[in-house]
Amino acid sequence: MSDHLRSSAWFVGDDEVAILHRVALRNSGIDGPLERRPMIGILTSATELNPCNLPLGELADEVAEGVREAGGIGVRLPVMSLGEDLMKPTAMLYRNLLSIEVEEYLRTYPIDGVVLLANCDKSVPGAIMGAASANLPAIVVTGGARPVAAFRGRRVGTGTDLWRAWEDHRTGRLDDEGWAEFERCLSCGVGACNTMGTASSMAIVSEALGLSLPGTSVIPTGDPARTAAARDSGRRIVEMVAEGLVPSTVLTDMAFRNAARVLHAIGGSTNAIIHLLAMAGRTACTLTLDEIGALGRGIPVLADVEPSGAGLIQDFHAAGGVPALMTLIADHLELDAITVTGRTWSKEIPASFPGGAALRDPADPLHTDGAFAVVRGTLAPDGAVLKTSAATPALFRHTGPAVVFTSYDDMRTRIDSPNLDVTADSVLVLVGAGPVAVPGMPEWGMIPIPAKLASIGVRDMVRVTDARMSGTSFGTCFLHVAPEAAIGGPLCLVRDGDLITVDVAGGRLDLDVDVEVLERRRREWVAPVSEHLRGWPALYQSHVMQADFGCDLDFLRAPTEAHRRFVPPVVGRS
Ligand code: FES
Repeated sequence: MSDHLRSSAWFVGDDEVAILHRVALRNSGIDGPLERRPMIGILTSATELNPCNLPLGELADEVAEGVREAGGIGVRLPVMSLGEDLMKPTAMLYRNLLSIEVEEYLRTYPIDGVVLLANCDKSVPGAIMGAASANLPAIVVTGGARPVAAFRGRRVGTGTDLWRAWEDHRTGRLDDEGWAEFERCLSCGVGACNTMGTASSMAIVSEALGLSLPGTSVIPTGDPARTAAARDSGRRIVEMVAEGLVPSTVLTDMAFRNAARVLHAIGGSTNAIIHLLAMAGRTACTLTLDEIGALGRGIPVLADVEPSGAGLIQDFHAAGGVPALMTLIADHLELDAITVTGRTWSKEIPASFPGGAALRDPADPLHTDGAFAVVRGTLAPDGAVLKTSAATPALFRHTGPAVVFTSYDDMRTRIDSPNLDVTADSVLVLVGAGPVAVPGMPEWGMIPIPAKLASIGVRDMVRVTDARMSGTSFGTCFLHVAPEAAIGGPLCLVRDGDLITVDVAGGRLDLDVDVEVLERRRREWVAPVSEHLRGWPALYQSHVMQADFGCDLDFLRAPTEAHRRFVPPVVGRS
């Protein structure tokens, strides 16, 4: 390694400042020649509060060993652990904070490259957003999916089967004893959700973007191949530093378009659409919500994994994972996009792969024309998203009267009331759950089917909301309506009984109410008063953008050239 290392600004020299810096590391037990060895940050966030990220602790050790083998110095960068299960109101509130943490770590310390260890939903995009803004060499290592649970002889996928079992329990098809037994079955170990939830979707998106070593994103937790991948990534990041391979070289428009196409082909999480827009917003790329929708045209949904399909992530991995999927849709991809290997995808996709039931043949896809629809209209001027691959086609063109819930608490209080004025044709509407409202845009969008309808066999209804939903969720839920109700989007004007029309083929989501009536309602509308917030939630609420811009903070987008060319000043003691 030569003096071109960024960390040389700290360690090369014989003045008192360079000595101070070298001594600081030796005090941490890092010895030997420091001056010309790349300093590699290893992002860590393992905690018992986040079992999805718990495998990252051991993987960090493997990464460190790989870095050492390649001649670098690995240093841990402990960051906030974003766990979707336990953080309230939602880990999404903190994705941008994690990105700031990562960016500022990389900016202020003598780091030459970084390995982004992340797993649970928001931790992957948050880490990538920070690294993209800092633009130092970066490689992503995910932790894999947890083992598969079983209940009464059948496999249980994380999330998706819980929502189904809850539906069975609240409508009497699963008794109290069975419900308690089901809970005991769910504890099956550490790792990410093993369905095509947001974590798996983002791991796959990361690989498709070119940020992970090809073939590594869906290796299950505990598989020796994952350990090897972590070590390989540690070795590779040292090479990337020498090559000067930075995120802005990998994260091109081609890479984002490829990732969006792959997201369609896996029937991925709707959350990944928001994350793609946010990640692109940290680069010079121009990806838009409408483009993501349009990129699904002609793409077959091939990953037969819950909630769009029947298998689990382990099955998808066994069938060949992302490289196999990319081979099958190669005609739709831009294979000149580069990956962290330094090679283009044209050199990385395999000529053959194992195959299996979880990876459909393009001639027999789960769905055609992608997994998502983007709709606009009088109810969603800036767009809304439907996961078509996990919805009911018979509801793709529908008009029905609205049943409005003004908050999550309102919905939970009334949804199962026998007095709720609702039929199977109604359109369930949840407002006040967008990025500004809560704040953070929780995953409340899969509004439960009212008990009085579920008990007579209604399995799906049209639902409309400014919330998100879990990647493990399903149903005809029009999500991410923008602008949200809390900032005066048309959703705030909907009243019980108003007719709402959805037309997926036509790309429309409309409120069928006279303009004069809506104008009167708008004059009467009073913006919700936010409860007094302080600290991060207050900052977030003041600066968060809507879903069509990825819910990033306005001051974090579009890095300046000054950021990109950041060179540490001659550092001294202050
Ligand atoms: Fe963490 Fe699903 S809740 S990966």
